[in-house]
Amino acid sequence: MNTQRKPLIAGNWKMNYDHLQALAFLQKLSWSLKNTAYDSSVTEVAVFPPFTDLRSAQTIVASEKLPIKIGAQDVSHEQSGAYTGDIAAAFLSSLDVSYVIVGHSERREYHAETDSLVGKKSAAALTAGITPVICVGESLQQREEQGTVVPLVQLTEVLAEVPEGAEFVIAYEPVWAIGSGQAATAAQAQEMCSHIRSKLRELRGEEVASATRILYGGSVKSDNIAEFMQQPDVDGALVGGASLKIDEFTKIVQYQTGLAE
Ligand code: 13P
Repeated sequence: MNTQRKPLIAGNWKMNYDHLQALAFLQKLSWSLKNTAYDSSVTEVAVFPPFTDLRSAQTIVASEKLPIKIGAQDVSHEQSGAYTGDIAAAFLSSLDVSYVIVGHSERREYHAETDSLVGKKSAAALTAGITPVICVGESLQQREEQGTVVPLVQLTEVLAEVPEGAEFVIAYEPVWAIGSGQAATAAQAQEMCSHIRSKLRELRGEEVASATRILYGGSVKSDNIAEFMQQPDVDGALVGGASLKIDEFTKIVQYQTGLAE
């Protein structure tokens, strides 16, 4: 974490919770954050519910002025037209969606998404005023055979489609750490995030490299978040399973308490 960059704790709900559950969850989360004196000027919180929950999430966040940003889990790279089942970035921005995850490893694996497509999705999000959270990460085999290369190649290919001057967030999610309960060590996360920042410097210059937030994702829990956040190049977390539990997610958001102890 670096004081120049505001930490972002992002909860990727994946395919969990319908719109009624989302309403109840967000209400409870906001109480829980309030009870623990959450300060949105210190840490930013975003949740990424399924598409069908977004309208409900928007309504409760707006009507109760909850200090929570809303994100989506995917977006079409096209603007509109005959793309059955796809969702345009403009539709998301009309629901006050601030972020969209692009290139999550589960989309790469189950929907054969390529870096070029992920880049086009990022560009479509940006056109609609939405910040893409660009996911990169290597499998165990790729790590053993190629070290730190794969996430850096992914980033390079994705950014080839993203206009200069665009603001985005990067999430480093090693595939072997996702949902496995076996998180990367803080040192491993720092090493890769530092390589990612160097690559950004090479591709986009110092200003972008030092302003861009890089999140770590993969089995983040309340008992390991503080260690990740102490790393100079880790600016937040993309949390899966642990973001579905109010107490656990609140503790992750309030990781500063862990640092102070
Ligand atoms: P887990 O936190 O469940 O490992 O999931 C991480 C993830 O994929 C977030 O996008």
